[in-house]
Amino acid sequence: MCPPEHFGVLYEINPWMHQEVAVDVDRARDQWETLASTLGDAGAEVETMAPQPGLPDIVFTANAGIVNRDCFVPSRFRHPQRQGESPHYTAWFAEHGFRIAELPGSVSHEGAGDALPFRSVLLSGYRFRSDAAAHVALSELAGVPVRPVELADDRFYHLDLTFCPLDERRALVAPAAWDSYGRKVVEALVPEPLPLDADETAAFVANSVVVGTNIVMPACPARIGRQLEAWGFDVVVVDVSEFQKAGGACRCLTLALDVALP
Ligand code: ARG
Repeated sequence: MCPPEHFGVLYEINPWMHQEVAVDVDRARDQWETLASTLGDAGAEVETMAPQPGLPDIVFTANAGIVNRDCFVPSRFRHPQRQGESPHYTAWFAEHGFRIAELPGSVSHEGAGDALPFRSVLLSGYRFRSDAAAHVALSELAGVPVRPVELADDRFYHLDLTFCPLDERRALVAPAAWDSYGRKVVEALVPEPLPLDADETAAFVANSVVVGTNIVMPACPARIGRQLEAWGFDVVVVDVSEFQKAGGACRCLTLALDVALP
């Protein structure tokens, strides 16, 4: 995670961002601290990196890249506004003993924000931020099969706003945000999906962090909470509304480091 010292909505690169909407910096700091401590209570060990002036979105570490064991594949950001984050992420991973494996310069891919492991594959969303053309290289570098899912709604421009793996069989899914082929890919992959409706998807319910059987969510409608509890999960809701002004929630604010792709 990266503290929100320099966080704000200073440009607009997704439909949620409006520069005229002010971010309450103290509130953002409190929400971020609560998220970090809640993840700690859920059993995660939280590592942090230094915030950087002029890079307000560096708080969204999900977009740093793809982690697999000791290998880190840095993102290639679509928008120039975020491209300056990459050297900072790469430096952090190099300092922490990861091997850096670079994607070719010609493709965009926004890391774990657009690629989530499920069973034996990496599900990778493309169109708004990541290119389908990145998938061959990503598959080779990460050493895992990649299944592409085309994102179809620009409000849900990253896969992690539409898909949240829960365990080997279950995931929160927002099929309306994918094209028909993407829906088939997920249908074939996930034995027990929990579909989100339009309002739930727009409340960023899929942008949740799973730590064992604990799920840390930006919002949890009663219907969803009942199903998750019936499946044996414990839900904690953390208000990250300041970050939603920039189009991100709980999961975007984190990057899992203990990933071992099959
Ligand atoms: N403002 C950021 C952007 O548009 C938000 C990133 C959210 N991250 C995510 N993994 N969905 O790039």
